[in-house]
Amino acid sequence: MGLEAKAAARSPKAALITDAHVAALYKDKALASLREAGLAAEAIIVPPGESSKTLAQAGELFDTMLRAGIDRGSVVVALGGGVVSDLAGFVAATYMRGIPWIVVSTTLLGQVDASVGGKTAVDHPQCKNLIGAFHQPSAVLADVDTLATLPEEELRTGLAEVVKHAVIRDADLFALLEAQAARLLARDAEVLEDVVTRNVRIKAEVVMADERESGLRRILNYGHTIGHAIESLAMASSGPAGGLPMSHGCAVAIGMMVEAEIAVRRGLVGRAVAERQRRLLERFGLPVRPDPALDLKQCLAVMRHDKKAEAGHMRFVLPEAIGSVRDVNDVSDGEIGEALQAVAGA
Ligand SMILES: NC(=O)c1ccc[n+]([C@@H]2O[C@H](COP(=O)([O-])OP(=O)(O)OC[C@H]3O[C@@H](n4cnc5c(N)ncnc54)[C@H](O)[C@@H]3O)[C@@H](O)[C@H]2O)c1
Ligand SMILES: [Zn+2]
Repeated sequence: MGLEAKAAARSPKAALITDAHVAALYKDKALASLREAGLAAEAIIVPPGESSKTLAQAGELFDTMLRAGIDRGSVVVALGGGVVSDLAGFVAATYMRGIPWIVVSTTLLGQVDASVGGKTAVDHPQCKNLIGAFHQPSAVLADVDTLATLPEEELRTGLAEVVKHAVIRDADLFALLEAQAARLLARDAEVLEDVVTRNVRIKAEVVMADERESGLRRILNYGHTIGHAIESLAMASSGPAGGLPMSHGCAVAIGMMVEAEIAVRRGLVGRAVAERQRRLLERFGLPVRPDPALDLKQCLAVMRHDKKAEAGHMRFVLPEAIGSVRDVNDVSDGEIGEALQAVAGA
């Protein structure tokens, strides 16, 4: 990564931003590579997890970078998953009105999704990713060997986005995932590399065609309209009295099943497609049914809030085949309710 950072920098300093988990595993190697390339590199370590994606944390990073003499031409190196790349990218986008940065992604979700597209952000207490900027990194590096140390749950979260990419855009990738599921779960480097490369290509193609999210980029929301609502409701009811929060990937997997069910019920796609999707998600250890106790009214309220949509007609990305989706804007509350119920009871 040293060479890529050096190529992006216009002065000899680099700020390596990472989280404590990743630092313990890969910081020394990264610093050595940056220094070998001739950069004076300092590591800045933030606590792991979404709770680091805040303006307060960004503020602390600005202070540290200022003290370390990071200037307009210095490069920020984001080493970690999507939390680190969103936070470090936001800091790079705003420090001195924007300085160069590169991403070295160490989670599957980061490699196939978060590091591609140039969106950076921190969270607001009332809304995830509310404060952000578009700031393209000069390079994105993904070393699949780092995935060997990734916790199982984090691998699964990335796999949900991988299945999403296959359903929206690439039937061959879907078939490859079916054929190579075992090797993928065993983190075979050759298969991982193939899968990551294909996914980066899909996401890059979609966002390049539509960098500021007007049309095509919406297809990346497949599974996320309902997935976000399920994730938010699980978060709101988690804690000592309720259940556990749900990972983003698990919520998206359930969201894809419900959204595919809407498509089946509309006659947009055959049931066999929804079944193929279900089998693959299950193979990856992802959930495929919402909790039967999920409250439809609450779910609709969250979706309407997310989408700023009026009652009665919600916008969805629905599959019409493996590898192809359609953007529709007239899904009724009744259809959503019936699909949720059908998938929960399946
Ligand atoms: N900018 C975008 O376009 C975009 C797209 C999708 C998601 N995101 C954002 O990405 C974030 C989620 O990213 P994530 O799932 O990568 O989470 P994450 O960055 O929190 O990483 C998950 C966990 O794995 C640990 N970890 C990372 N790499 C590791 C490794 N190689 N070995 C062992 N442990 C490792 C981390 O310390 C963390 O505890 C969310 O904040 C989301 O909003 C952004
Ligand atoms: Zn997602």
